[in-house]
Amino acid sequence: MLISGGGSNLRALLDAADSPLYPARILAVGADNPADGLTHAEFYGVPTFVVSPANFDSREAWAEVLLDNINFFKPDLVVLAGFMRILPSEFVRALSPNLINTHPSLLPLFPGAHAVHDAITAGATETGVTIHVVDEGVDTGPHIAQRSLQILPGESPGDLHERIKVVERDLLIETVLAIAENKITLSQFSKL
Ligand code: GAR
Repeated sequence: MLISGGGSNLRALLDAADSPLYPARILAVGADNPADGLTHAEFYGVPTFVVSPANFDSREAWAEVLLDNINFFKPDLVVLAGFMRILPSEFVRALSPNLINTHPSLLPLFPGAHAVHDAITAGATETGVTIHVVDEGVDTGPHIAQRSLQILPGESPGDLHERIKVVERDLLIETVLAIAENKITLSQFSKL
């Protein structure tokens, strides 16, 4: 899994994967900064790595080292869970279709880094979560699963995001479960 922040989705998946009945294991957690959420991985004894773009001359050079770190663990699936960086095409193509992202809106509505704020500003009454295969665009890849929820009148972006994350964590656990059990085949979604 790759994260940039608090890692509540990571924590939820680590908790789920702690059960012997859950068919997936988290091999490693990477971040683009010393993210708070890495402590969740450390709690479970899962290896972590940080590859910061600030240490590289280009996004491509950064992503190459990130990819090397990922490949070291030979994962079947890479999950972006609040990883707030745009990944270059070479990185996406190297992992596709086994690279998925969770996003706090009903895509194609409100892509990008401010999805919750954008939904409220646009006056939307409904939003949600989308889990999708990552392609070379920003939040444009084929959708695997979506779940919606109502936006409450006057709700702040922070409060709404917390409610979205409750739904998001369950959807992520269910989606990874379905992938691990071959009930979802990612190659059927990939156009790359
Ligand atoms: C999640 O809601 C995720 O969908 C979002 O960041 C949050 C991370 O929360 N990602 C994006 O907005 C990507 N465009 P977490 O660190 O508590 O899991």
